Amino acid sequence: QAGQIADRMGFKVYAAGGLVRDVLLGHENLDIDLVVEGDGILLALELGRAYNAKVRQHHQFGTAEVVFSDDFKIDVATARVEFYAYPAALPQVESSTLHQDLYRRDFTINAMAVALNEDSFGNLVDFFDGREDLQNHIVRVLHNLSFIEDPTRILRAIRFEQRYGFKIEPQTLKFLNESVRRGVLAKVSNDRLWDELKHILAETEAEGMLRRMEELGVWAYIFPRVNYWEVEPVLKDLPRSIRQISDWGMMVPSSGWLVYFIAVLHWSDAEIARENCAKYNLSKRQTEKVLAALKGWSSTVALIWKAPRHVKVSQLAKALLQMPRESYPMLLAILEEDELKERFRELLNIIKDSKPRINGKYIKQLGYRPGPVYREALDALWRERLDGNLRTEE
Ligand code: CTP
Repeated sequence: QAGQIADRMGFKVYAAGGLVRDVLLGHENLDIDLVVEGDGILLALELGRAYNAKVRQHHQFGTAEVVFSDDFKIDVATARVEFYAYPAALPQVESSTLHQDLYRRDFTINAMAVALNEDSFGNLVDFFDGREDLQNHIVRVLHNLSFIEDPTRILRAIRFEQRYGFKIEPQTLKFLNESVRRGVLAKVSNDRLWDELKHILAETEAEGMLRRMEELGVWAYIFPRVNYWEVEPVLKDLPRSIRQISDWGMMVPSSGWLVYFIAVLHWSDAEIARENCAKYNLSKRQTEKVLAALKGWSSTVALIWKAPRHVKVSQLAKALLQMPRESYPMLLAILEEDELKERFRELLNIIKDSKPRINGKYIKQLGYRPGPVYREALDALWRERLDGNLRTEE
């Protein structure tokens, strides 16, 4: 219990940011973000000891992470702005350090804290009327320079607006527009943009967020030389396609963001797609997936159109297997008509079950030596079976 540990150490500790927002909204949020009036790193070390968890320390920032598992960690920050500078004014400063910490944040709805010390446990600290904005569904910055200080907040405003169905407050929207016009987004490192963009592309409402990027003049900074309107129809249908594919119990893509990234670039020249992948430092494998999807989608769609009469199942299966599975929702979106979508579903079913039952290992067990002819023979068997020319024994 962070509060009890803090009590013992004479610190004050608060849960802050997104967790408070989501608890008040009744949404799930497992990201715990603690702010300590005192020494955050010491508190993190104590927490780590109490729960036998690893602690990563960042002394230059006075922050630490208590890592419980791969997907559960607690961030601990020190609210210490004037704590050491004005020790004489300590009682005053104690609350103003938290105030300072919260004032540095992006939006009022993210700038609330809840006390965790025993005597004040559960008290909401809300200097900037975040709760009221939350109730009124409003995204509002804390001061007029917020977007200039941190232009990635432009993307965050869009993300929270769309995720919760909120409105960006008029004055905030004015600041946002002004900073976009001033070109602040061109000054942010691509790494930082990617941190936010990746979040956006992994959200269920990503499609609405991308549309807002276009409306607010942000798109061109995020996807240079990509025309939003060319890809809009597919983006619009993507949430539904993703849901369908997962409802069919099939091929839920491992990296959600890549599904959107591929869809955004599917209409671009390979050169532009490559530029965008490089901008965000995608790995070689990820870039190859984007390019394979780009190259293969139109012929794959054409094959599905022609099926079943003029195309062999094995031909279709081969084309599909050459496409990254992160591109399947996009293919489904492009297919549009229900009849074609149904055909696509059947096809996914077939390739799902088409893992060759006879594999290389089996042949080896039979005493034959491995060689390239294996591949060829196995491929041929696979094709024949898909096309119904061969029955394999169960
Ligand atoms: N924050 C900020 N400015 C940023 C990024 C973050 O002020 N550019 C603050 C916000 O107060 C935010 C907190 O840091 O609540 C934690 O950031 P993050 O984990 O990125 O966001 P969450 O609000 O937790 O959002 P999510 O639900 O998407 O995790």
